Amino acid sequence: MMVIMSSATPTAPEREDFALRLLKGSAKKSYEPVVDIDWDAPLPEGLYFLPPHMLSLYGTPLWERMTDQQRLELSRQEFANYISMGIWFENMLNQSLLRAMMHSSPTSHSTFYELTELGDEARHMLMFGKAIERVGVEPFWPTKRGARRVNAMAMIFRGPMLWIGALVGEELFDAVQRQILDDGDDIQPLVRRVMRIHVTEEARHIQFARDGIRRDVGTLSRRTRLALSNLHGLGASLYFGHFTRRGLYDRIGLDGAEAQRQARANPHFHATLRAGFEPLEAFLREVGLMGPVARRMWAKNHFL
Ligand SMILES: [Fe+2]
Ligand SMILES: [Fe+2]
Repeated sequence: MMVIMSSATPTAPEREDFALRLLKGSAKKSYEPVVDIDWDAPLPEGLYFLPPHMLSLYGTPLWERMTDQQRLELSRQEFANYISMGIWFENMLNQSLLRAMMHSSPTSHSTFYELTELGDEARHMLMFGKAIERVGVEPFWPTKRGARRVNAMAMIFRGPMLWIGALVGEELFDAVQRQILDDGDDIQPLVRRVMRIHVTEEARHIQFARDGIRRDVGTLSRRTRLALSNLHGLGASLYFGHFTRRGLYDRIGLDGAEAQRQARANPHFHATLRAGFEPLEAFLREVGLMGPVARRMWAKNHFL
């Protein structure tokens, strides 16, 4: 007689309880952006898409020479850039989650929560795509090679590495979005609505990833731990490079190379990056996963 054995790894009971709590939270408070956002509402004229002081060129000599219209356009492009990056990150995360799920029990609460997270991210990608379309710009999409790299990264993320990758993607965006929301009513209502929905649902994703790391970190071998605590530093140049990509400035008629140079050296922008990295840095330090190489990479790219 053939016996069909399950190769799924059982999940710790505490992880199951945690997942169940998040499942209940998701059932109570989740959004359906297609209907929960008024996509036909007008975009009030003169309102920025991101707070000016968070823009990459804010306070630079170039900024002083830019017209009001150019500053506003830069906020529109930078908003589209943030959420374009959000889409490809969430695509990568969802690919990784699905692959990992083939190795875990399909009946556990943690798998149920991962499926819920997957669904959240699918709706976020749709929400971001619709928002880019609504604000009337082209998305910032990776090149063919870049897209292949995103897909390749999805293949290597698993176990604690998956949760750290998730946090590097989610925590920084979350902190930036909270800064935007804290900034008052001076930005487009559509942007505030998108950020509010995202922050609410991401809070659960971040808790789930943090819990996964806290639970796994003690079981790692010295080598894995060393690798994990330094590999996340690769996120630093990825973020810094994309936040100051030339296309942002080319699109609004600036000298792209010069604008990029000023943005990259901009102390105001560096302060925004540091504030964005703060919660993640504190967490990585708390769990002992802030390695010296990673620290140097984050510092070199002005997140520390
Ligand atoms: Fe998301
Ligand atoms: Fe997420």
